Amino acid sequence: MEHIKTFHSITYETSNGPITIEGPLSSDELKKYNFHDKLVAFRPAKKQFEALLEIASFEEARIIVARTEEMIVGYVTYLYPDPLERWSTFKMKELIVLGAIEIIPDYRGQRVASNLLKLSMLDDYMENYIVISTEYYWHWDLEGTKLSIWDYRKVMEKMMASGGLTPAPTDDPEIISHPANTLMVRVGKNVPETTVEVFDNLRFLSRYNQRIKSEG
Ligand SMILES: CC(C)(COP(=O)(O)OP(=O)(O)OC[C@H]1O[C@@H](n2cnc3c(N)ncnc32)[C@H](O)[C@@H]1OP(=O)(O)O)[C@@H](O)C(=O)NCCC(=O)NCCS
Repeated sequence: MEHIKTFHSITYETSNGPITIEGPLSSDELKKYNFHDKLVAFRPAKKQFEALLEIASFEEARIIVARTEEMIVGYVTYLYPDPLERWSTFKMKELIVLGAIEIIPDYRGQRVASNLLKLSMLDDYMENYIVISTEYYWHWDLEGTKLSIWDYRKVMEKMMASGGLTPAPTDDPEIISHPANTLMVRVGKNVPETTVEVFDNLRFLSRYNQRIKSEG
């Protein structure tokens, strides 16, 4: 499968001045900017920037950023699932994972994350993918935002809906281990029905494996 990427960019005013949301960006393009030291939701900022530079070089991957003139203040990543994770079981070439989305605290609540997702989906090629996001409450910044688990979940749902991702059932043990955790899914318009069926088996992998076992 070819992974054709079309660059999009928008600039709008926030209470902190103008912000540009753009991508997908290559590693070389990312290197032109500084990476804000408050982008620490997943790992220390320096390490996270190194990870983004590496991801940006993957054929399928997409990094969309929110930036001021010279500073990255938010980003979203899309890439194939980790080979060790359940979501790579069938090696579906159409399945990409929204791996991380993060905005520095000063810019939160100004629709920056929602706009990152909206802009991501402006690229028609996204219609060829099933995009998923696995949401585990232990990754959320509950302390920084002072939101309850359920209010945070509402933010996640509103934000993901801006990119067309909606909650979908699964039997993934990690997701069903807490009711606030959720799988978010967007099935692109060009994804064939047969691919959706494979994905349904992946969502309910235990059930699928049991069926295969009983048939075999
Ligand atoms: C989750 C996160 C990315 C949201 O970023 P953001 O730019 O503030 O999100 P948005 O402004 O687009 O908010 C989406 C919706 O939630 C609402 N919202 C955001 N923060 C809120 C808050 N603290 N209280 C109440 N509502 C809030 C927004 O008003 C918006 O609602 P609307 O669609 O009705 O206007 C950001 O809080 C963050 O970086 N958190 C740490 C990392 C993380 O948890 N990532 C997600 C797991 S991968």
